[in-house]
Amino acid sequence: MAQYSVRRYVMCPPAHFAVEYAINPWMDTSRPVHRGRAVAQWERLRETYEALGHQVDLLEPIPGLPDMVFTANGAMVIGDRALGARFRESVREPEAPAHREFLTGLGIDVRLPQAVNEGQGDFAWTGRHILAGSGFRTSREAHVEVEQTFGVPVLALELVDPRFYHLDTALCVLDSDVIAYYPPAFSEASRRILAEGYPDAILAGDDDAQVLGLNAVSDGEHVVLAAQAEKLCARIAEAGFTPIPVDVSELLRGGGGAKCATLELHDHNRPRAHTAGPRAGAGQ
Ligand code: ARG
Repeated sequence: MAQYSVRRYVMCPPAHFAVEYAINPWMDTSRPVHRGRAVAQWERLRETYEALGHQVDLLEPIPGLPDMVFTANGAMVIGDRALGARFRESVREPEAPAHREFLTGLGIDVRLPQAVNEGQGDFAWTGRHILAGSGFRTSREAHVEVEQTFGVPVLALELVDPRFYHLDTALCVLDSDVIAYYPPAFSEASRRILAEGYPDAILAGDDDAQVLGLNAVSDGEHVVLAAQAEKLCARIAEAGFTPIPVDVSELLRGGGGAKCATLELHDHNRPRAHTAGPRAGAGQ
């Protein structure tokens, strides 16, 4: 049964969002992004979380870092501990220290990574174990680091389709027992692991996967995802969750969706009396 819990998210306004380089197949540098639209869609996403009762902390956008809106890649965070990111592509690497400083400011103990890992792009916490992707960005060595950092079991999954280069483009944790995923994004061996571990999973089809419908954010009851993923929305509803469709079409030009723009501070208590970190533009 769907069970809601209040969540805490880190987002970064797409003030400098652009497609200036192409590091995944979704990015086309010859088609300029509409930044105003991206900002409006992002604002809507933030408002959606707040209306659902969640807390959103804001990370200050840095000029020259066009992908910084994709905060999911900045770290893996559970409780008062984090593993910082180490980006595969040097163009994104300066985002990593910004995240580390921000999380440290929240009182989180941030471990420095050795191996390449792109945070929650490839690490998903189910409440029991971490599902960990590799194949395009995060390295296998990082799976060991994340296991050591959090002391929880890691289930390694291999991605094989370059359009689904991060785990969160092909798989979403809806609650501790239910996941949704797109089987063709995974190797044969990983598909078997998923089928065994999650016999009741929701399987997404090509059309839903191709609008990055699986790049979704669940609070255990509501699932925020691309409105274009219509069939997936229907299946999520059949499974007892409430789909909350949002339009993130402009972020898709960078190869991301709702989840990419959201770093979850898993199991992090609601704010202590002081609210750490910048709240610029929080409008309150
Ligand atoms: N353009 C970014 C990149 O290729 C998009 C990152 C999307 N983030 C995610 N969590 N899937 O790195």
